Amino acid sequence: MTPKILIIGGGPGGYVAAIRAAQLHAEVTLVENGQLGGTCLNVGCIPTKALLHTSQLYGEISEAAAYGVNATPVLDFDAAQKYKARVVNQLVNGVKGLMKANKVKVLNGTATFTTKATVQVDGKDVPFDKVIIATGSTPAIPPIPGIHSPQCIDSTGALALTEVPSRLVIVGGGVIGIEMAAIYRTLGSEVTIVEAQEEILPPIDREIATLLREKLVAVGTRIEVGATVEEITDKVSHADVTVRTSAGQTMVIPGDKVLVAVGRRANTAALGLDTAGIAHDRGQITVGAQQQTNLPNVYAIGDCTGGSMLAHVASAQGEVAAENALGHPASYDGKTNPACVYTDPEIAGVGLTEEQVKAQKINYLVGRFPLSANGKSLIMGADGLVKIIPDRDCRIGSGDGVNAGGRDVHNLRSSHR
Ligand code: NAI
Repeated sequence: MTPKILIIGGGPGGYVAAIRAAQLHAEVTLVENGQLGGTCLNVGCIPTKALLHTSQLYGEISEAAAYGVNATPVLDFDAAQKYKARVVNQLVNGVKGLMKANKVKVLNGTATFTTKATVQVDGKDVPFDKVIIATGSTPAIPPIPGIHSPQCIDSTGALALTEVPSRLVIVGGGVIGIEMAAIYRTLGSEVTIVEAQEEILPPIDREIATLLREKLVAVGTRIEVGATVEEITDKVSHADVTVRTSAGQTMVIPGDKVLVAVGRRANTAALGLDTAGIAHDRGQITVGAQQQTNLPNVYAIGDCTGGSMLAHVASAQGEVAAENALGHPASYDGKTNPACVYTDPEIAGVGLTEEQVKAQKINYLVGRFPLSANGKSLIMGADGLVKIIPDRDCRIGSGDGVNAGGRDVHNLRSSHR
C-alpha cells in the first residue's frame, strides 16, 4: 500500500520534505495556513535580500564617482517594494508548481493533533501513516516595558515599511538586526543598534564580527554593545528607547521605528503537541539525528526544533526526515552547515569559529588573507579578509610560515606555493 505522508508547514523544510517523500513514491499531503514558501520566501531571506539588493545598488551609485562614474541615486521606495513583491511572488509560484509537478496535495488550513494518531485541518481528519512537522518559527517578543508601542516592529514589519524611517533603533545585533541595519543605513536612516552582548553577531567568529562592526560604524551606524533596553515609550510620532549602556549610564534614543530582533521561537502553539504527547522544550520539538520525535511516526524539522534557524538546514533536515519516514535510513549532521550574513561586506563561513576551537581545546592554526591583496576584490572596492582555522593535528603539508596555537600567522599566499 502506498504510504501516506502528512507534512505540516510549507516552508523550505516542509516543501523540500514533500518533494523528497513524493520522489520516494509516497502519497503526500502538505498543510499550510499561510503562503507556500514559509518565512524564508515570504517574510525572511528572500524579501530581505531583495531590499538589500536595492540598497546595495543605491550605495554603489552613491560611491560611483570614485570609479569614474558621476551619478546621484534617487530612491523610489515604492518601486523597490514592488520589485521585492515580484521576486517573492515568482518564487512562491515556483513552489506551487513544484508541488503540482510532484503530485503533492496542498491543503490550506491549520493542522492540529486531536489525539496521538489523528490530525485535523479545520475540523476535518487528515489520514496519515507518518507526519513531518515543519511549522517554523515566529519572532520572539522580549518582556520590555512598552514593547507593544505602535512604533515597534518585527522583521516582517521592517520588510513592509512604506517609507525609509529617518531614525531606526534596532534592539538586537544578531543576524536580522545587522542585515536590516545594512539596508536602512545605506538608504539613509540614522540607525542605532542596541546589543546586549559584548559584540554583535554572537555566533560569528569574534574577529570577523568586530571587523564588520567597525565597518558599520565607519558608515555612520551607531552601535551600543553590552547595552540593554529598559523601556520603550510611545511618543505618538516616534518612540523613546531608554538604554542602559555598558558603562552603566542611562540614555534615551528616539526612533521613528523600533525594530525588535532578539531571536525567534518555535511556532508550535497550534499543533496540540501535549495532546499528541510529542516531547518538547517550551514549544521547541525534541528530535534525534534522524529527525524523529519521541513518537515513532512523527518527525520534526527546521526552526520548530530550534538549533540553527536557517532555511538550508531545514531543507537538509526535510530530506532526512522524509527518507527515514519511508524506510531509507539517513541522519543529519550540522557540522559543515554554511552560514552567511548578508551585509556589506558579507560574511560567509563554515565549520568552527576560533572561539569554538579554543573552547574545544583543539590544537589549531590561523591563516588570514586580506582581500585588499586580491586583485578582483581590490577592483570592486572590497576589503575584509578570509580566515582559515585548520586543525593543526590534521594538516597536510609542511605548514611552513604558520605558527601554532592560533597566533597570528601569515599571508595565505604561502600555501599556494
Ligand atoms: P539572533 O539570535 O541572531 O540575534 C539576537 C540578538 O539579540 C543577539 O545578539 C542577542 O544577544 C540580542 N539580544 C537578545 N535580547 C536582547 C535585548 N533585550 N536587548 C538587546 N539585545 C538583545 O536572532 P535574530 O537576529 O532575531 O534572528 C533570528 C533567526 O533568524 C536566527 O536564528 C538567524 O539565524 C535567522 N536568520 C538568519 C539569516 C541568515 O542566515 N543570513 C538572516 C536572518 C535571520
